[in-house]
Amino acid sequence: MRVGILTGGGDCPGLNTVIRGLVMTGVKYFGYEFVGFRDGWAGPINNLTMPLSVEFVRPKYNEGGTMLGTSRTNPLADPSLIKKIKDNLATNKIDVLVVMGGDDTLGVATKLAELGINVIGVPKTIDNDLSATEYTFGFDTAVSIAAEAIDRIHTTARSHHRVLIVEVMGRHAGWIAMDAGIASGADYIMLPERETDLQEMCTSVKHGFGEGKKNYAIVVVSEGAVLKQSTDMVTQDESKDAFGHVKLGGIGKAVAKAIEVETGIETRDVLLGHLQRGGPPTARDRVLSTRFGVFAAHMIDEGKFGKMAALKGNTIEAVPLADATDETKTVGEEWFEVLDALKA
Ligand code: F6P
Repeated sequence: MRVGILTGGGDCPGLNTVIRGLVMTGVKYFGYEFVGFRDGWAGPINNLTMPLSVEFVRPKYNEGGTMLGTSRTNPLADPSLIKKIKDNLATNKIDVLVVMGGDDTLGVATKLAELGINVIGVPKTIDNDLSATEYTFGFDTAVSIAAEAIDRIHTTARSHHRVLIVEVMGRHAGWIAMDAGIASGADYIMLPERETDLQEMCTSVKHGFGEGKKNYAIVVVSEGAVLKQSTDMVTQDESKDAFGHVKLGGIGKAVAKAIEVETGIETRDVLLGHLQRGGPPTARDRVLSTRFGVFAAHMIDEGKFGKMAALKGNTIEAVPLADATDETKTVGEEWFEVLDALKA
């Protein structure tokens, strides 16, 4: 059996650990041969391959990024690209393709499965916004990095008696902002899931200032969050990626300006950006991603094609690929009372 592997979309700490678990299990128990397709869907489109041996993957237990490279190439943009993928899978005698990605990459995998290609999905994104799986690996790492950064922001904010705004990733889901904000004692957390009223936020922020108060405040803002007063998400520019997504980023700066004007308190902003995706995965993400890799090898053995490995409770199960991309998993209202309790 020859198994192809690709990683698509934004990179994510833990991808290498999945590949390691998959290759080690596949070779040891089932005698599979592995072929890596480089740079996301650009790999099978342009026949960009690399060999994957146990010796090569074994040391990569804590390496961030993806050894295969990645891209946001979208083969659904042009039917001739799907034909190229099929042809190159045949050229390389690939029996099954393991696709690691978020909603865009797994959406393409779902389409290929419908066309009769043996595909297995592994969910990946720091945003933790995929339905059908409890958690995605990479999320814990992103939250840990953001929380550590915010811990540091506290001391400079306190020294200068400032409001500090920290913008984090997450697209249309506020999981990173919420978990990092709770973990690092934020005074206010802005999520894409509910509009923030500027006056209400400023009143809350001002509570922390005055005689005998702590006299600084930390606001964590998810990149997809909006102010009731403006309603539009803030983007870096007009451009979109191959899957039609705008490039979010900049809401933190807009919020900082608005708070400073409204409260008169000196305010600064920090954009954590790709720091949240870089470097080694946390121990928790290493374990979760290893489990996904080992499980994917067993899914191949059991012929569970058109399915994706998903964490249900503390068990990994195979679920239909389409379930992963059905809807974006966002922060539910049940979390709002936790957030409200923690406001200044
Ligand atoms: O989907 C993961 C993610 O990190 C989002 O949180 C973020 O909006 C986006 O990718 C950034 O994408 P890029 O690396 O292409 O700028």
